[in-house]
Amino acid sequence: MEKKKIEHLAIIMDGNGRWAKSKHLPRIMGHHAGVRAVERTVRAARELDIPTVSLYAFSTENWKRPKGEVMGLMGLFRYYMKSKLEDLCKEETHVRFAGDLEALPDDIVEILDDTEKATAKFTERQLVVCLNYGGRKELLDAVNKIVSEGIKPPITEEILRKHFYLPDLPDPDLIIRTSGELRLSNFWLWQSSYSEYYFTDKYWPEFDKNALQEAVKDYYERERRYGNA
Ligand code: IPE
Ligand code: IPE
Ligand code: MG
Repeated sequence: MEKKKIEHLAIIMDGNGRWAKSKHLPRIMGHHAGVRAVERTVRAARELDIPTVSLYAFSTENWKRPKGEVMGLMGLFRYYMKSKLEDLCKEETHVRFAGDLEALPDDIVEILDDTEKATAKFTERQLVVCLNYGGRKELLDAVNKIVSEGIKPPITEEILRKHFYLPDLPDPDLIIRTSGELRLSNFWLWQSSYSEYYFTDKYWPEFDKNALQEAVKDYYERERRYGNA
């Protein structure tokens, strides 16, 4: 059977807090180190010619965390998007966002909007940052949009998909989760129905090009059958 090229690599970046704890550092330092892992990994994915990378950066459930940590994370998103825009343009990457963005602080929404617009001309490669993303929320938002548009049943897969945050996004071929946790935590629920999963015990701040290469190699050794014999 022919091996399917990775069009969309999705990553659940987990373990920043435990990484920091193991080094006797505050959790926020783990998130800072996580940003460096993002940079390395996005670069490595480009070298591997993967056109779409999506990163789970903040879930709809992450608001439950202590206020200080949530504020620290918001500060990091602000800083990252502002300071990395030039690099992302140099790398010719369209940066897009998936999630309920309206619930984020206004100035962040503005930064995200500017980033998306400034990079929209790049069509070869995209980086999707999932912010205030939850698979259940995405499905509910889609259903509510469909109802408010007065669309009558039968609702097809195609209609539902058209109402997702990024309707044109291909489903993830490979989903990597770091830190040894074996769960999806509300990521790409609909889109992951035939994704391949790869779990590693490495904490996200330890993830690098070699780790990505290992995951990709593992993926290419698998056979995707989609229910076929
Ligand atoms: C992932 O690392 C980053 C986010 C969820 C924002 P964690 O912060 O979940 O790290 P652990 O799982 O507590 O180690
Ligand atoms: C998943 O990690 C969310 C992100 C990586 C943004 P969590 O650390 O929030 O997931 P749980 O709570 O361990 O399931
Ligand atoms: Mg975690």
